[in-house]
Amino acid sequence: MIGRVEETLSYREGSMQTDSSRLFSPLPLRGVELPNRVVISPMCTYSAEDGLANDWHLAHLGKFALGGAGTVFVEATGVEARGRITHGCTGIWSDEHGRALARLAGFLRDHGAVPAIQLAHAGRKASMQRPWHGNGPLNEDDFARGDEPWEIIGPTDEPAGEGWLVPRAMDTTDIAEVVQAFADGARRALDAGFEIAEIHGAHGYLLHSFLSPVSNTRRDGYGGDRQGRMRLALEVTEAVRDVWPQDKPLFFRVSAVDGLEDGWSIEDSVVLARELKARGVDVVDCSSGGIMGQVKKAMIPRGLGFQVAFARQIREEAGIATQCVGLILDGPQAEAILRGGGADLVAIGREALVDPFWAHHAAQSLGVDQGGFEAWPEQYGWWLKRRARALEKL
Ligand SMILES: Cc1cc2nc3c(=O)[nH]c(=O)nc-3n(C[C@H](O)[C@H](O)[C@H](O)COP(=O)(O)O)c2cc1C
Repeated sequence: MIGRVEETLSYREGSMQTDSSRLFSPLPLRGVELPNRVVISPMCTYSAEDGLANDWHLAHLGKFALGGAGTVFVEATGVEARGRITHGCTGIWSDEHGRALARLAGFLRDHGAVPAIQLAHAGRKASMQRPWHGNGPLNEDDFARGDEPWEIIGPTDEPAGEGWLVPRAMDTTDIAEVVQAFADGARRALDAGFEIAEIHGAHGYLLHSFLSPVSNTRRDGYGGDRQGRMRLALEVTEAVRDVWPQDKPLFFRVSAVDGLEDGWSIEDSVVLARELKARGVDVVDCSSGGIMGQVKKAMIPRGLGFQVAFARQIREEAGIATQCVGLILDGPQAEAILRGGGADLVAIGREALVDPFWAHHAAQSLGVDQGGFEAWPEQYGWWLKRRARALEKL
């Protein structure tokens, strides 16, 4: 059996009971109980200043806790200033950054969600434009706005794409610094009150760029064969696990495939997942792609739930719990994925931007909430129940 699947089903503490839904059953992971299987996926919002989380992040993420998600992830948060994707990305490279994040973690927890954070380093895809300014390398227009580029690092001096910033190839001192920065970030995340930490090993950012043969052509012990290319990811995992308490779950997000010929493959991801499991990772979060600068270069067909097959294969072949993500639109789709053994957790990204109350609506569509609105914030529920009755009479 994969993970520990609790058979007592409940929606959120103190609310309805049901024996009908896996999506709304709790998942105990180490000493933390996720109240349901809905996870808000990490999503950058490019709204921080100097890496500090602010009121925007509180309002943005707070909605998802009010919206019934069992776990809410703070976006990719740079463990080093040079590891931010853009000038607007959140960071955790100082105690001041940790204190700003503590406010978010506290709000999420107080409103029934498990607070989670993605620890990240953008590597050769750092110092980029915000998406709405072009989603590519910084240019003259960005400099005019005050968004100056900074020195970036990567496995080699090969840029992520044509016209992208040229990274400095990391030496062993840089590697040791990055490993330490992930550990320091995890310690600050713990102090800030987060219950789940996720290491970002996907989307062409630093750790993925070491994993993939497309970007890692190093000849030293951090490159070469798959074991060498996995070394940095595994050293970071060990360093984070050392400071992240034994009673708290650790996630690792992979790009399960590069989607390029001769790139990182699903078989590679299964091997990596086994190594991660041996080092105390609890959940592999299965995304894909991103190794080259431009998204369109990867050839991964994007249908509904297009990455679930990766989560299923890793779950079955590495014997580790997985989180799936990508074009999962509603409760019945998510429920079917879990019942079919595709994953243990379902992460929701853009659908939550469309509907921050996605989890509550999923509970209604699955019949877990039969119109009582008990799991909704009490500030709303009493009124909504009466509104529903009034609508019935129209
Ligand atoms: C606005 C936005 C920001 C994102 N930022 C991150 C991020 O910080 N870290 C990450 O791993 N993925 C990030 N992603 C990817 C999402 O976590 C998710 O994997 C992807 O959107 C697919 O899920 P969806 O179809 O439910 O949106 C982002 C996606 C969006 C839409």
